[in-house]
Amino acid sequence: MTSQTSNARKADGRRADESSGEESGEKSGRSGAQVRLVDLRRSYGPVRALDGLSLDVGPGEFVALLGPSGCGKTTALRALAGLDTLDSGQILVGDRDITHVGANRRDMGMVFQAYSLFPNMTARDNVAYGLQLRRVGSQERRRRAGDLLDLVGLSSHAAHYPHQLSGGQQQRVALARALAVEPQVLLLDEPLSALDAKVRSQLRDEIRRIQIDVGTTTLFVTHDQQEALGVADRVGVIRSGRLEQVGPPAELYDRPRTPFVAEFVGLTNRLHGTAQSGTAEVLGVGVPLLEGSTGSGAVTVFVRPESVQVTPDGKGNGRVLTASFLGSQSTVRVRLDDDTTVLAQVSSAELAHLPPGTQVRVTVAAAPALATRAVR
Ligand SMILES: Nc1ncnc2c1ncn2[C@@H]1O[C@H](COP(=O)(O)OP(=O)(O)OP(=O)(O)O)[C@@H](O)[C@H]1O
Ligand SMILES: [Mg+2]
Repeated sequence: MTSQTSNARKADGRRADESSGEESGEKSGRSGAQVRLVDLRRSYGPVRALDGLSLDVGPGEFVALLGPSGCGKTTALRALAGLDTLDSGQILVGDRDITHVGANRRDMGMVFQAYSLFPNMTARDNVAYGLQLRRVGSQERRRRAGDLLDLVGLSSHAAHYPHQLSGGQQQRVALARALAVEPQVLLLDEPLSALDAKVRSQLRDEIRRIQIDVGTTTLFVTHDQQEALGVADRVGVIRSGRLEQVGPPAELYDRPRTPFVAEFVGLTNRLHGTAQSGTAEVLGVGVPLLEGSTGSGAVTVFVRPESVQVTPDGKGNGRVLTASFLGSQSTVRVRLDDDTTVLAQVSSAELAHLPPGTQVRVTVAAAPALATRAVR
């Protein structure tokens, strides 16, 4: 697909080549459907893997599900794909209730964490497999598999078997295979976790590009917050089988509504403060408190490292413990006089003035932050 059609798709939510004669874009398959998960529950013995998970995903939207190991991400995707049954809850795709529809009639593509290609089939046959199941003729199968391999940059590897492909190439074939049947919904369960950092970021960008081109509604599971924030339209944070917060990456980062989200998405400090009428005083600075904050009087305030300022000062309120060079930005860890440890982001140019042992003054920016009742 050319970048022109891709841009057209971005502009009006529909591929340029769909615009004539096919007004019911839904039917082309290659446009995403709305997905609604309503109060999903699934227990395995005493373990509540899903504990009232609800989530709406818009047509063509890319939502990343983020959460710690064991929080229910894979269980949610498997339930959505029809690979597992629910105790209760409802799954809707468009207007259709598919809660009790079999996996093979759900019109979803799924890519799993481990490469799951058929070892005895070439890349092309792997991609064409789902089309064969759908009784698409061999000429057409070959053509569509070729197009998909082209899309993931592997046309020259069509005749290779999985063992002749690198890990990243195998994941691309798995992605092409999931897309070949033109699913309305694409489910990706940590598809990049086995890959090295560079291939991982390339393939992540490629998944996003293809997803925008194709317009498939996509749920992408990861436990890597950078990955989630980097690619998704919205990120949902799951905790113990429920959705804790969902929103665009910047909203989740700048306005976490719970301590769990503040600490799971990005780095954060816990600083002592005193709260009164929507403001907390932290290290002498009045910090406006975000919606979701609780407590008055003694509170714990969640402050991002980039909101912490550190300057050398012989009469300061802390001492540098460690300094870490990280490229253009670096971090220093400071022990305050009250024994709290604070992580601050500093420019690498400042690092030379902040070696471990330096007496420093630590203050915070008046950026909105979340607070909770202090537990002492
Ligand atoms: N088939 C099963 N039998 C018993 N317990 C299960 C089964 N599948 C999942 N669980 C449990 O349900 C919980 C959620 O598991 P799930 O695989 O959804 O987690 P996850 O969020 O995908 O974790 P990870 O990031 O480690 O992949 C875990 O406590 C897990 O042990
Ligand atoms: Mg999992």
